[in-house]
Amino acid sequence: MRKIVTLAVAVTAVASLMVGTNASAEDGAALYKAKTCWSCHGKDAKTPLMPFYPSLAGQNADYMYNQMVDIKSGARSNGQTAAMKGVMGLVNEEQMRTLADWLATQN
Ligand code: HEC
Repeated sequence: MRKIVTLAVAVTAVASLMVGTNASAEDGAALYKAKTCWSCHGKDAKTPLMPFYPSLAGQNADYMYNQMVDIKSGARSNGQTAAMKGVMGLVNEEQMRTLADWLATQN
């Protein structure tokens, strides 16, 4: 009986690990839609809602990742950052990484 319980716990642990892996493999395009990024930066990431909002398609991935981290933490803060900051509450660092890598491949 004890063995069966141990096995059940192990199976549950593996299953939750797999769910975690799937979540981290979420692709950038899906995140870009789901986290509302497109509403300001444009569906193609280069036709922003406002002329003074940045175009992201093809920008350097590490640069974008760092900007997102800085906007979220408040290290980067200017007149326009407020619009972006609220959304950063919806993404964790892993998702920012995925988004930055995907955006860099867009043209
Ligand atoms: C409500 C509008 C809005 C939404 C939604 C939004 N952003 Fe932004 N984003 C901005 C604005 C405005 C800036 C420029 C901020 C500034 O001037 O400091 C910006 C800046 C950025 C930058 C830095 C660009 C650069 O050249 O420095 C990145 C990267 C970025 N956004 C990615 C995203 C991603 C990814 C999402 C979705 C998770 C997102 N944004 C959602 C408005 C938005």
